[in-house]
Amino acid sequence: MSLQFLIELAGGVDNISRILAPEGRVVVAVRDAKQVLPTPDFVVEESVLGEWQLSMPRCNSISDEDLATLGRLIAKQQKAIAQNYLKPTDCPYRPQWHISPPQGLLNDPNGFIFHNGEYHLFYQWYPYACEHKDKYWVLLKSQDLVNWNWQSIALTPSDWFDSHGVFSGHAVSHEGELLLFYTGNTRLGHDRKRQTMQCVARLNADNSAEKLGPIIRSLPEGVTEHFRDPKILFRQDKWHMLLGAQTTDLQGRLAVYHSNDLMHWSFDSLYGDDIAPFGYMWECPDMFELNGKLFFVFGPQGIKSQNPNHTIEHQNRIFNIEQDNQGRFHFGDGWQLDAGFDFYAPQTMETEDGRRVMVGWMGLPDEVDQPSCDNGWIHQFTALRELKWYGGRIVQSPIRELAELRESQTILSLDEHGIDLATKSYELNVTLPWGSALKLMSDEKFGVLLELDKAQGVLRFDRTNTEIRQGDVVRELSLDTEKDVHLQILADSSSLEVFINHGEHVMTGRVFTPASATHIALNGACANAEFAALKSVVASTFAPMQ
Ligand code: FRU
Repeated sequence: MSLQFLIELAGGVDNISRILAPEGRVVVAVRDAKQVLPTPDFVVEESVLGEWQLSMPRCNSISDEDLATLGRLIAKQQKAIAQNYLKPTDCPYRPQWHISPPQGLLNDPNGFIFHNGEYHLFYQWYPYACEHKDKYWVLLKSQDLVNWNWQSIALTPSDWFDSHGVFSGHAVSHEGELLLFYTGNTRLGHDRKRQTMQCVARLNADNSAEKLGPIIRSLPEGVTEHFRDPKILFRQDKWHMLLGAQTTDLQGRLAVYHSNDLMHWSFDSLYGDDIAPFGYMWECPDMFELNGKLFFVFGPQGIKSQNPNHTIEHQNRIFNIEQDNQGRFHFGDGWQLDAGFDFYAPQTMETEDGRRVMVGWMGLPDEVDQPSCDNGWIHQFTALRELKWYGGRIVQSPIRELAELRESQTILSLDEHGIDLATKSYELNVTLPWGSALKLMSDEKFGVLLELDKAQGVLRFDRTNTEIRQGDVVRELSLDTEKDVHLQILADSSSLEVFINHGEHVMTGRVFTPASATHIALNGACANAEFAALKSVVASTFAPMQ
């Protein structure tokens, strides 16, 4: 029986929301069960987790190309429906210069790269609610890394190999083309059995993407279906694909594949025994050199902290890593990239002038209820940060281009009486003594504290007194110094990114206080601070409205 037969039974292409191809069968999910025609015996009709599905045996006459043709039609519908979710909702928590979704949920940065004279940055997007469901890729581009322009909904979960999410991945600029590598996530049957494939698509000149299909269809031995987030790099004369993996005994690892042509891949090995045990899953690998030294960045999950205030087990890490002459990877020392609340799944790219620039998801996997959800959206990206290897440590600073956002620069005398800044989007540079506490984003009721606790030797980021609905409220960072501490603070409506001692540490957190909570005060000391209001550039990151 042909695929066309199943499509007609389902009430036509417009009534099909999903296609699946589990072993030996083909399945379509329909939008409206009432439009389904009477089905012969060999077609099974059933409700699978609230979705009406029709399935039949897959006969030889149904080719991958037939499935791809239906996938393209589903993609067209998905893009048309998502058009209704492109208008940014009004919201006092919306950032003025960080990237946020118009509606729905944003998570990881994807495909961050300089290609054909433009910076490309995609994001993981679920358009329809503040929930982690079937993910899309949205494309933004920039000439200057500050002004980002909306381009397209590049990829949708339209095909049998990515029906439940075009998951995260990186891009490769190769022979003038931009190839997008991602993980196709599917869920099969009543028990939602996860099926994972590594896939590739090519970006077209009109910013749509053409899926070329799966390039790794099965798993190597010893891992679970938690096997995702391809990063591609060229080393030792071949392409490497790095994947985040979970072993069957539930340990996180790095999986590596090799290829000569980017399309045919052979499994090399799992890596990470040298630091094990280190969490139950590793997500979103990245790898790059700084000053000739190789580093590996990833999101280990299941990392417990000694500090009772730190309960979130989804973390971020950077490790020094070496590749020997046989191509094998060996782990060295590791550090946290960001010691704040909200930093995950970062990606880096090399700028035209050779800097290593990183952007992260300012959010965490399990937190999906925050005040911005009342206005239909959640999560945002971090500021773009330059990474350096300096004096034996990783140092991060906001990219120098962000200085363009400064509107007016003034010196403020901070003390306990406080000042109304009249904005929540600003940059503040200040050096503080131990024992002092900066109160930001505050009014009579709410406020965030950055406290240098001399007795404990920690910088405490305390968002207890905010409108936060989920997540930890206190983060403490031990600072190995008795000297005054320099803070460069980037604020943007509902977030603070704190660069400590010129980027030796960073603490990032979303902070929800009322729009009118624009006061700042310094308890326990007086200090002069350099202040600059930051202008809004975010409008162009949303689709132009017809
Ligand atoms: C990390 C992550 C990735 C996955 C993506 C799905 O936040 O879980 O591992 O590809 O999000 O949106």
